[in-house]
Amino acid sequence: MAAPSICSQWSRYGSGWLRAMRGCWVPRLRSSWPAGSLGARLLSQEKRATETHFGFETVAEDEKGGKVYHVFESVAKRYDVMNDMMSLGIHRVWKDLLLREMRPLPGTQLLDVAGGTGLAWVLGDAEELPFDDDKFDVYTIAFGIRNVTHIDRALQEAHRVLKPGGRFLCLEFSQVNNPLLSRIYDLYSFQVIPVLGEVIAGDWKSYQYLVESIRRFPSQEEFKEMIEDAGFQKVTYESLTSGIVAIHSGFKL
Ligand SMILES: C[S@@+](CC[C@H](N)C(=O)[O-])C[C@H]1O[C@@H](n2cnc3c(N)ncnc32)[C@H](O)[C@@H]1O
Repeated sequence: MAAPSICSQWSRYGSGWLRAMRGCWVPRLRSSWPAGSLGARLLSQEKRATETHFGFETVAEDEKGGKVYHVFESVAKRYDVMNDMMSLGIHRVWKDLLLREMRPLPGTQLLDVAGGTGLAWVLGDAEELPFDDDKFDVYTIAFGIRNVTHIDRALQEAHRVLKPGGRFLCLEFSQVNNPLLSRIYDLYSFQVIPVLGEVIAGDWKSYQYLVESIRRFPSQEEFKEMIEDAGFQKVTYESLTSGIVAIHSGFKL
């Protein structure tokens, strides 16, 4: 993974996170693509029929992982400062709320997928986790699942690696539920964020992808159904900041 600082907020901003997690075992999963092997390329003609979205672009499914990889490789250096600028620091509050919801206890086995730096690291793909079944008490993923090519597969993997009774928690951008705020948010997203990306990080395109990928992500209710389809029960969600983000929760029972 060529972008080690991309996910550093949890540890950098979060002495709170580290305090909360003392006594918990926390491997953090970083992504391990692009997987552009010769075999994959030979198969690609067949697979080309299967397409997906990359922001507002339509791309072959087997190309998406590599494109997402380049986005995060490109934004890595200025990732923290960009998050602070774009959200006016509110992303820290959202993450604190996720932790409060989790209430980890000493000894909790936590897997933070698409995570930050500083703790035990494992390189892998959310769609194919390198862990045994029934291993973790809690699975978290913050602003990560939106980038995965097959969200349903990532959810099934989350379900597989959780112990019976284990909890899935996801913090992700969602659908704004106030029409006026929604218009302002759209204007801000499409007119301001790519400009900030260009000025601060020298990267318009990655931030254009960011805002487009948010619009492609399912609504709170649709994502709740997907989580249920993966086998989770007692699935709930809480919209934060009028739905700019939502925390989804489900249990493997
Ligand atoms: C927006 S960052 C989120 C980082 C951190 N969780 C946070 O809240 O700030 C998204 C992360 O997801 C990772 N990612 C994207 N697709 C992935 C996949 N299929 N498997 C594992 N990680 C993935 C990216 O490499 C990137 O580090």
